[in-house]
Amino acid sequence: MHSTVLSDEEFCKILGEFPALKREINGKRLVYLDNAASTLKPKSVIEKMTDFYLNHYSNIHRAVHTLASEATVEYENAREKVAKFLNANNEEVIFTNGTTMGINFLVNSLVKSGILKPDDTVLISQVEHHANLVPWVRLSKLYGFKVNYIEADEKGVITHDSIEKAKRYVPKIVSVTGQSNVTGQLMPIEFIRESFKDSILIIDGAQLIPHKKIDVKKLNIDFLVFSGHKMLGPTGIGVLYGKKDLLEKLEPFMYGGEMIDKVTFDDVSFNILPYKFEAGTQHIAGAVGLGYTIDFLESIGYDKIESHVKDLSKYLLEELMKLDFVEIYGPIDDSHQSLVSFNIDGVHPHDVSHILDENFGVATRSGHHCAQPLMSILSKGSKIDFPNSTVRASLYIYNTKEDIDILIQGLKEIRRMFI
Ligand code: ALA
Repeated sequence: MHSTVLSDEEFCKILGEFPALKREINGKRLVYLDNAASTLKPKSVIEKMTDFYLNHYSNIHRAVHTLASEATVEYENAREKVAKFLNANNEEVIFTNGTTMGINFLVNSLVKSGILKPDDTVLISQVEHHANLVPWVRLSKLYGFKVNYIEADEKGVITHDSIEKAKRYVPKIVSVTGQSNVTGQLMPIEFIRESFKDSILIIDGAQLIPHKKIDVKKLNIDFLVFSGHKMLGPTGIGVLYGKKDLLEKLEPFMYGGEMIDKVTFDDVSFNILPYKFEAGTQHIAGAVGLGYTIDFLESIGYDKIESHVKDLSKYLLEELMKLDFVEIYGPIDDSHQSLVSFNIDGVHPHDVSHILDENFGVATRSGHHCAQPLMSILSKGSKIDFPNSTVRASLYIYNTKEDIDILIQGLKEIRRMFI
């Protein structure tokens, strides 16, 4: 029977791909727990990208020479890999430079196409990253549509009840994260889809896609955006998936070369999908590298990635809960995955993060995590003097329980230093 658990041999092979994990920080082994910000990159993917850059690189789609055709084939292969990965069609996969661009693209295109009209409502949640909040709020001021929220409770948790309540807004568009980058909560996508059957559903997959396989057809998602760099891939490359019929109706976000069919001094007509949305020279090696990254992830097996991250998440949450001086944000159940945000009573998160790095070699992120509105909610529910920011530890496939033990030991010592 196929095992969903990584064997020791498989895990050692994974570790061998990340030389940074052998680094020492002030004499301590590096423990990398900042994966929600960006993951490390596998050596074999970098080597393949180097070979592509050195031996096969050229611009794509334009010229007829050999290098151009090799680079074009690699680029389109990458698109096909992404499409298969999501259970989409090739023409439904647009390369972007990341999640933020994907959402900006959608907000602007939906307005320009007349699909999102003044007086329509867009529903987002109160736990969104600024990338899925600022574009909606800002453009609502300029174009007159409304933005309403699925409310979070004082721990930053989105409940079925709050989703139900938000039905009263009758939104044209629902745009929510698949997983909060602050609370780690996996959003109930099926329930959201079910609750807003007639709305256009956009999922910000930045935190979700790295460790959970998503079938866009099965979930009936209209648009999905995510970034390569949070799933072992290169920076500067991301994906926007959109249902073909919706993409057909969208006005491009960007105009330029390659996205056109015919241009005169008076008018333009657009290329077919997906090229209509890829103006200018793309991040060719980035897209190719994302394709190699998907090969890498699939060679490990997504079921194994999911179960490894799930086991570690449970352990991380349980071990943090044993510390009575730590305040944890987000749900205390299985929906809390891959990262935990917390504070030590009486110690500023930047100090915690700094000492964890300096004294223990543990890389975490501290700050508001690009979610300032959510910080104000957590502040209300906090039993400590809330510093409008948190420490966040986030996991991925190369982490171990020993990494978590080192973090916990560090937190205990930091607490001792400050009392
Ligand atoms: N969006 C990234 C994070 O949550 C950068 O850290």
